[in-house]
Amino acid sequence: MSLPPGFLDELRTRTSLSQVVGRKVMWDARKSNQGKGDMWAPCPFHQEKTASFHVDDRKGFYYCFGCHAKGDALSFVQETENVGFLEAVEILAREAGMQIPARDPGARRRADRQSQLAAVMEQAVRHYRLQLNTAAGAEAREYLERRKLSTDMLERFEIGFAPDARTGLWQHLTGAGVAPEMIIDAGLAARPDDGGAPYDRFRGRIIFPIRDARGRAIALGGRAMDPNARAKYLNSPETDLFDKGRSLYNHAPARESSGKGEPLIVAEGYMDVIALVRAGFGAAVAPLGTAITEDQLRLLWRISPEPVIALDGDKAGLRAAMRLIDIALPLLEAGRSLRFCILPEGQDPDDLIAAQGAGAMRERISNAMPMVNLLWQRETEGRNLDSPERKAALDKSLREALRLIRDPSIRSHYGNAIRDMREELFHSAIRTRPRQNWNRSTPGAPLPSTKSSLLAAANSGVEDRVREAVILASLVLHPQLIPEFEAELEDLDLATDHDLIRQTLLASDPDQAGFAENLAGKIQAPLDKLFALNHVQLAPSVRRPEDTELARRCITGELQKLSARRGASREIAEAEEDLGGLADEGVTWRLGQAAEARNKAEKQHTDQGAESDEDASAMSEYLQSLIDGEVWVKKNR
Ligand code: UTP
Ligand code: MN
Repeated sequence: MSLPPGFLDELRTRTSLSQVVGRKVMWDARKSNQGKGDMWAPCPFHQEKTASFHVDDRKGFYYCFGCHAKGDALSFVQETENVGFLEAVEILAREAGMQIPARDPGARRRADRQSQLAAVMEQAVRHYRLQLNTAAGAEAREYLERRKLSTDMLERFEIGFAPDARTGLWQHLTGAGVAPEMIIDAGLAARPDDGGAPYDRFRGRIIFPIRDARGRAIALGGRAMDPNARAKYLNSPETDLFDKGRSLYNHAPARESSGKGEPLIVAEGYMDVIALVRAGFGAAVAPLGTAITEDQLRLLWRISPEPVIALDGDKAGLRAAMRLIDIALPLLEAGRSLRFCILPEGQDPDDLIAAQGAGAMRERISNAMPMVNLLWQRETEGRNLDSPERKAALDKSLREALRLIRDPSIRSHYGNAIRDMREELFHSAIRTRPRQNWNRSTPGAPLPSTKSSLLAAANSGVEDRVREAVILASLVLHPQLIPEFEAELEDLDLATDHDLIRQTLLASDPDQAGFAENLAGKIQAPLDKLFALNHVQLAPSVRRPEDTELARRCITGELQKLSARRGASREIAEAEEDLGGLADEGVTWRLGQAAEARNKAEKQHTDQGAESDEDASAMSEYLQSLIDGEVWVKKNR
């Protein structure tokens, strides 16, 4: 049904929100001012004694200052009556005495066709139901008994049986006057490619009718009884009536049960739903032979703010849960989340209930894990976190997952929860490590003094400044190298004087005669300062201005170290930002590890340098000693 323009506005003006809400709450007479349309009541969406729920009748909006529920008459009806948007429109329109709009011709044709197909499906459901009680159904009845399906459940789920015959349903339906095309379009029979006579789709299978939210039969699921059958389950194909990614098995009954306060449970298969219902979980649904889709998630959230996903504890089940996390993260909002009930390996809800009873299932459901915990598990499990690179990789993937969350407030809650788990993991890792193993290469809690100096070194930027100065000075003396390093030079994150020198270098023509004078004419003071620096004066590439090859190697080496360092600092800054600006032992430890890894990389570079060029390596060592001694920091403090 599509609504004509203006219909909803008209509906809103004709509807009195306080009247709609008034049926569900007791107004607080003292706090309310009816004349002004300013009404207060205890909130119908959460338990409270005070009146925090406010209705602005003139604007047509409500807001709860306690639980932050908010919306208009339509959302109020959706929430309190547990119905969808169009149903809420119908309810309010009826009350307001408005004509439910006629459908446009296209929509009407589609709707007519759908009801015709649904009628054919209904006939098929009835036919298969009857077959279960015939002689041909004896084996099927035994099978269902073995699987503990009571007559009650067979009744409730309208379970049927398709005998192993080529045209049983076909003959029944055509005999009852159903047009052959309709049988095929409903997905109940198929025409072979060679153009032969159509044959029944379901043969030798237990039949599970699938109904939509309105209760119309839209598809069938068929379970093979022969363990060697090609497919254990065979479902109806997608038809004009059946969009499997937007349908849920047991939708309407589950919605009703959920409205009565039962937890909404999402299982994988038909048999699981039936077992759950039999065990007293009326609000159980299943997707239909596919992984849960985004559309199905939205349907689930319309039923309940926090569906519980119950999945087999096997690899496939866990993989499905992990995929679902990625689908769900971008859709999270306040009052929309998921919990995960992970079952023992190799067991689905049906197996667990059969083996351990409804109580065991209930316990697992009430202990279901919040999604953030499963996300954490996914990112950390089986991961070796014994090196800074690996820890940085963990933070990176956590960050990427958090980034998927569009809702800023949820994102920050997730960030906090993850930070807590992260802290716990790293602390317990430190605590449980045997003391005698603590040395420079294994993680341990840093002493307060090392902690502060590591943080200082990581944050001061000294190292960067030193290396930048040497790079710039080398380029001033070897302008012919500028074009070669242009891109790297542009990428550097320089400030003030260093930036000015870079800009001037990039703007100058290195081939021009009198380059140095020209440069000095523009930026005399910054250049004087640059060349006055002790470490610049001592840099081999400065001391030996005639050796271009040496300068090239020095610049390359320093650029590499700068970019490695930048990468590490960026990682840490991002980690701190996303994980809540923490400067705890875990981060300090990480900084220490990162520094060590950097040192190692630098040493390596130095060693390689030593083989090829003593001067270049001497410079590296010299710079490193400055950095290690934090000479610069102390001078500047
Ligand atoms: P499972 O293989 O886990 O089956 O498939 P199950 O639900 O435990 O069934 P039983 O207990 O062996 O009877 C889970 C769901 O995946 C879909 C069906 O919807 C099934 O209920 N499925 C499975 C298929 O669509 N086709 C298949 O061949 C198998
Ligand atoms: Mn099963």
